Amino acid sequence: MRHINLTYTKLFRSSRLGCYSVWFALLLLTAACARRPTGLGAQASFPVGTCVNLNKLRANPAYRATIEREFTSITAEDVMKMDSLQPRPNEFTWASADALLRFARQHHQRVHGHALVWSGALPKWVLQFKGDTAAWDQLLRQHITTTMHHFKGRVKAWDVVNEALENDDTFNRTIWYEHLGPGYVAHAFQYARQADPEALLFYNDFDLENGPSKLNGTLRLLARLKAQGIKVDGVGLQMHASLNVPFSSITEAFQKIAAQGYLVHVSEMDVQLNRYGQNDALTQPTPALLAEQRDYVRTVVAAYRKLPPAQQYGITFWGVSDGDTWLRSNPRHPEWPLLFDDKYQPKPAYEGFREGLTAPLTR
Ligand code: XIL
Repeated sequence: MRHINLTYTKLFRSSRLGCYSVWFALLLLTAACARRPTGLGAQASFPVGTCVNLNKLRANPAYRATIEREFTSITAEDVMKMDSLQPRPNEFTWASADALLRFARQHHQRVHGHALVWSGALPKWVLQFKGDTAAWDQLLRQHITTTMHHFKGRVKAWDVVNEALENDDTFNRTIWYEHLGPGYVAHAFQYARQADPEALLFYNDFDLENGPSKLNGTLRLLARLKAQGIKVDGVGLQMHASLNVPFSSITEAFQKIAAQGYLVHVSEMDVQLNRYGQNDALTQPTPALLAEQRDYVRTVVAAYRKLPPAQQYGITFWGVSDGDTWLRSNPRHPEWPLLFDDKYQPKPAYEGFREGLTAPLTR
């Protein structure tokens, strides 16, 4: 009987071992099957990213394949914004964001968190919320804290505040500003730091490369935070740019931000062929404009590489193919601002990015 028992135990143990081995093999197989990016992201010494739309990722194989192949960092285009994460008071829905994180992990991609505090993508209940200053502050704190706790260890950097400023250091009259005053920015960073002391915290805004006024205003805001003992780790320049934004102001923005010790993230890049304020009625992307876009991307990448490597957090595009761009939401205003055409074929701008990666660095 004892003998039988022993054999049984051995068998049981070995089958358990066998079971573990099968699991282990499966794990290895999955890891081996998950392809690492081989495109731009693999060729650059800094992360190269795109925003990702979860519905397209599920429905469009070309979209998915391009993201898997080219990018080493992803930002959720929408599913980590407040209306997605907290559609009703205190009711958080993580499923979409978690699915995106699983995809990123399988493909060895970093996830950049976007965005904890913004005036866009607010759920209806926040727009209708009635409460005194303390209640608004609590709402802000709770959203930041709950979100960062949920993603702790998986999302290691966040756009904490997005688009707080107008074109200098005047505050946008957002719902947060109206109820909490300018101090909401400081509070947001404090709550974020407490929620996840390991995370890198970014201030993100547009037009920082478009002349000195907003850039200097932003740097003044950050300097005031620093004087209050509030640490901001990085600055995101959205860079929804147009071909007529001069290179000198882009280089200046990179250099000035880096000189203050911040990480520099080009966080939402697209380069519109329509020129701001001059020509916004293009119906075709002409070869000449596509060539200009190529030069533009090349110069931006080359300028970015001149920053101290430790401050190069990455360059993220706001979309994969021209067909995916948020700028096409107005059908009367077509645009072609990204690296891939509507059929996911690399455009001249894609080559421009590669050229920027290898251009000699003259300082
Ligand atoms: C845009 C998304 O691309 C759209 O899908 C959505 O409808 C609106 O928001 N600045 C930002 C981004 O910080 O979050 C915005 O993304 C584009 C402008």
